[in-house]
Amino acid sequence: MANFRIKSIDSLLSMDEAKKLTKQLGAMDLMFLGIGGIVGTGIFVLTGVAAATYSGPALIISFLMCGFACSLAALTYAELASMVPVAGSAYTYAYATMGEVIAWIMGWNLVLEYALSAATVASGWSGYFTGIFKTLGYPLPAALTTVPQDGGIVNLPAVLISLFVTYMLYIGMRDSARLNNILVVVKLAALALFLALASPAVEQTNWEPFMPFGFSGVAAGAAIVFFAFFGFDAVSTAAEETKNPKRDLPIGIIGSLAVCTVLYMAVGIVLTGVVSYTELNNPEPVAYALRHIGYNFGSALVAVGAVAGMTTVLIVFIYGQTRIFFVMARDGLLPEALCKLHPKYRTPHIVTWATGIAVALAGGFIKIGVIAELANIGTMFAFIMVSAGVMVLRKTRPDINRPFKCPAVWVVGPLAIVSVGYLMLNLPAATWERFVIWSAIGVVIYVFYGRNRSPLRNQ
Ligand code: ALA
Repeated sequence: MANFRIKSIDSLLSMDEAKKLTKQLGAMDLMFLGIGGIVGTGIFVLTGVAAATYSGPALIISFLMCGFACSLAALTYAELASMVPVAGSAYTYAYATMGEVIAWIMGWNLVLEYALSAATVASGWSGYFTGIFKTLGYPLPAALTTVPQDGGIVNLPAVLISLFVTYMLYIGMRDSARLNNILVVVKLAALALFLALASPAVEQTNWEPFMPFGFSGVAAGAAIVFFAFFGFDAVSTAAEETKNPKRDLPIGIIGSLAVCTVLYMAVGIVLTGVVSYTELNNPEPVAYALRHIGYNFGSALVAVGAVAGMTTVLIVFIYGQTRIFFVMARDGLLPEALCKLHPKYRTPHIVTWATGIAVALAGGFIKIGVIAELANIGTMFAFIMVSAGVMVLRKTRPDINRPFKCPAVWVVGPLAIVSVGYLMLNLPAATWERFVIWSAIGVVIYVFYGRNRSPLRNQ
């Protein structure tokens, strides 16, 4: 059937050089890109809400559940990314395995993961940023730091940081990667500082009761803190700009997730050990915990680390979104202008500005409420599709060289689907409704627009 046209891997790999992105990223850049995308609003903000309202001190079990599900998904991403090192991530893999309509739905849902997360992070960034000024005794005017729905005019810091990151991405990936690397070091140092200062103050009594909301609470908490884990998959969107993708992509994807999972477990244990979980429902739980035990200056440093952390998430997510749109445009499913490269910088400048401005407007003017959960469900959907895709390709194209092979794929693949699917089922019904509506809108756009424009249409 025409709508299930599959783009062959060979055509994905043998692309016109003029339309390709420049190869400039190495293994370390990718590892930092992964950590850059992972450690952000999730660990610095959402863990507090999850611990206070769902998981309790068993937050660590929620982390374990996410770490387990994401590691399995990471193995499948690593196989596909090293095998099809073309920008576009899950969208591209879906095109190669399940056909155009599924690929379109995938690309459409990746907007939930990338652009929506970026807008969420921009507003979280603004929260921490204005908090720092307040602590210093120079509060910024509420009208310029609050969205209209909350009585302000615009959340200007959210707009400015989105536009700044967009500008960095516009002038080239090399500088953005450098900035990202520096900020990743700052945010990791902030978490290390937290662990060093807070560990001695852990009191065992804070871990009791361990599961105040039962196991169902722990599972619901896992579905929320999932937001803290994704981002490693964004490494795969950089496939085309990687110097040695076959070796470096698996290192970047699996390595960054492994580092962050270990770090999160430590933060989870210490965070719930120094403060009662009931007090963690605030916008800056990690900094709060330090203040609680008397480290005001340390708490301010952690806040700075959080701002650095959220900046890197913004870099990685706006970057990821532009590359996905770029490939969709190159495939003819979006307007062709979006895949034009800047004559000097060789970056997809039009799509970069279009994405950055959209994120800036969303972060500046829209009240961002339960959006993290919507981003989670979109991402979980992508993980499931990629895990299925890796198995489909093992059957349909056993001949293709796989520089990284997912170990025990017939166990890992189904287990990834079941474990991510389980987390997905633990998301609230309202999130499912929004997800279904979003997907339905995507299908309608495909039927009236993308389907007629695809270059594969007349093949
Ligand atoms: N994992 C990213 C964060 O927590 C999306 O901000």
